[in-house]
Amino acid sequence: MMTEQNAQQISYHKLSRILHWATALIILSLIPIGFFMGELSNSNPVKFKLYMLHKSFGLTVLGLLFLRVIILLVTTHPHSLPTHKHWEVLLAKFIHFSLYALLLFLPLSGWIMSSAGEFPVPFFGLFHMPDLVGKNEALFILMRSSHEILAIIIVGAVGLHFAGALKHHLIDRDTTLARMLPVAEKSKTVMVVIALIAAASLAIGAFFSVKEMRHMLYSEQSIEKPEQNTPRASTQNSTPDYMADVEISQEAAGQEAIGIKLSENNAHENNNETTRNDTARNEAKNSDVAQDSPYSWQIDQQKSNISFQASLYGQNFEGVFGTVSGQVVFDTDHLNESHVNIGVIIQDLKTGSADRDMNIQTDTWLDSESFPESRFVASSFEKIKQNQYVAHGHLTIKSITKPLDFVFTFEDAEISAGGQSGTVAGIFVINRLDFDVGQGEWSDSDTVGHSVKVKVLLHAERNTGHNQ
Ligand code: HEM
Repeated sequence: MMTEQNAQQISYHKLSRILHWATALIILSLIPIGFFMGELSNSNPVKFKLYMLHKSFGLTVLGLLFLRVIILLVTTHPHSLPTHKHWEVLLAKFIHFSLYALLLFLPLSGWIMSSAGEFPVPFFGLFHMPDLVGKNEALFILMRSSHEILAIIIVGAVGLHFAGALKHHLIDRDTTLARMLPVAEKSKTVMVVIALIAAASLAIGAFFSVKEMRHMLYSEQSIEKPEQNTPRASTQNSTPDYMADVEISQEAAGQEAIGIKLSENNAHENNNETTRNDTARNEAKNSDVAQDSPYSWQIDQQKSNISFQASLYGQNFEGVFGTVSGQVVFDTDHLNESHVNIGVIIQDLKTGSADRDMNIQTDTWLDSESFPESRFVASSFEKIKQNQYVAHGHLTIKSITKPLDFVFTFEDAEISAGGQSGTVAGIFVINRLDFDVGQGEWSDSDTVGHSVKVKVLLHAERNTGHNQ
C-alpha cells in the first residue's frame, strides 16, 4: 500500500525539500570554513569569530537532522525510479545512510571535543550549550582527530551524492534531482546555482582533505596542530575555595576595579631592557633590605599562587601562574617599614590547554619573550580595618607600569619552634587594554572581555633569624 503510494509520489514533502537544501547549504559552507579557519593564525580575531559561527551552524545541522528524521517518519517519500539499476539503488542507500550518520557524528564529535577541551560552545551569541562531558585531554584529542577524519569522509560522501544526482539529471535525464528541488517547477537557474555552490565547496573541501590526509600520512606528529579552538581556559590548579572568602571593602567593591585605582598617567617605558634592569635593580635593593629587616618573610611557593579570571564570549576562564617569588617585609605594627616586591614568571602560566598557553605567550597578549615577568612593588601600607590592609604600589605588565591600590587580608599564626606563618589574600581587577594586552583588532570586548580579575594568595613564613 505504502509502496504503491511511494511509487506514485512525484516529489518529496515540501518540508523535507526545504530541510534538505538548508542542510546542504550549511554543510557546503561549513566544510570550506572548517578547513579554512584552522589555517588562520591565532593572532587573527577573525579565526575566533569563525570558530563560533562554525560551532553554531554545526549545531544547527544537528537540530535540522532531528527535524528531518521526524518528518521522514511521519510523511511518505518517493521510491527510487524503476529505471534505476540495482547497484545504483544500493549505492544510493549506502550513501544516504552514511550521510545521516555523518550528520549525527560530525556535530557530536565537535561538541564533545569542545566540552572535553573546556572550550565554549555559544549558539549564535544567544546562549551557551551545556558541556556534554567534563574536561578530558585524551578525549579531546580523540574527538579532534575523529572530527577531522569525519570531515574528510563527508567531503567524499557529499561528492558522491552530488555526482549521483548530476548523473541522473544530465545523463539519465530522469526526475531524481528535480523531485528534490526546493522549487516546484524545474528551474535551470536554481539548478545551475546549486551545482556551482556545491562544486566550489566540494573543490575547496577536497583540496583541504587531500592536504590533511597528506599531513596525517607523512607527518610523524600526526594531527597535533598548534592552532586550536577558541580558548575558554580553565585551570587544573584551580584557585582554592577560600579565595572566595576574601573580604573586599564595600567602597572598593563598588568600583569597576575591586581594590584598585589606576592612574590615567601611564608610565610607559619604551625600552624593555630599561624596564628589566630597573626591576632587577629594585629587586636587588629590596632583597638587601629584606635580608636585614626583622619583618621579612619567606614566600612558600608551594602554597602560594596568583591566578586570574578573564572572559571569552562572555564565558569566564581561569589561568594560574606557577611561580610566585619576591621579597616581603611586612609587620602590622610597623606598616611604615613594610614593603613588597612580588613577581610572577609569565611562561609559567597554565590555563589547562597547551594551545591556549602557547597563544597567551605571544606578543599580541603577554609577550613573554620580551617581558618574561610581571611585578607588583609597594612600599606604602594602610590599615583599613581588622586584618584588612591596602598596599599602595605599582603593577608592571609588559612595558607598562601603573599605580595599584591592592586591598588584602592578612592572617598570621604561630607555628612550631616559635615560628610564624602569614597568609595574604586579595583580589583586584584590571583592564587588560591599560597594559597593552590584546590591542588593535583584539581591543573590542566582544571576543575577550576587558576586565581581568586577579586573585592573589600568598603563604609565607617569617624569617626566624630576626624573631624578636
Ligand atoms: C555537520 C556539521 C559540521 C561539519 C560539516 C564540520 C566540518 C568541519 C571541518 C571540515 C573542519 C576542519 C577539519 C580539519 O581542520 O581537518 C572542522 C573543524 C572544527 N569543527 Fe566542525 N563541523 C561540523 C560541526 C561542528 C560542531 C557542532 C562543532 C562544535 C560544537 C565543531 C567544532 C569544530 C572545531 C573546534 C574545529 C577545529 C578543530 C581543530 O582546531 O583542529 N564542528 N569542522
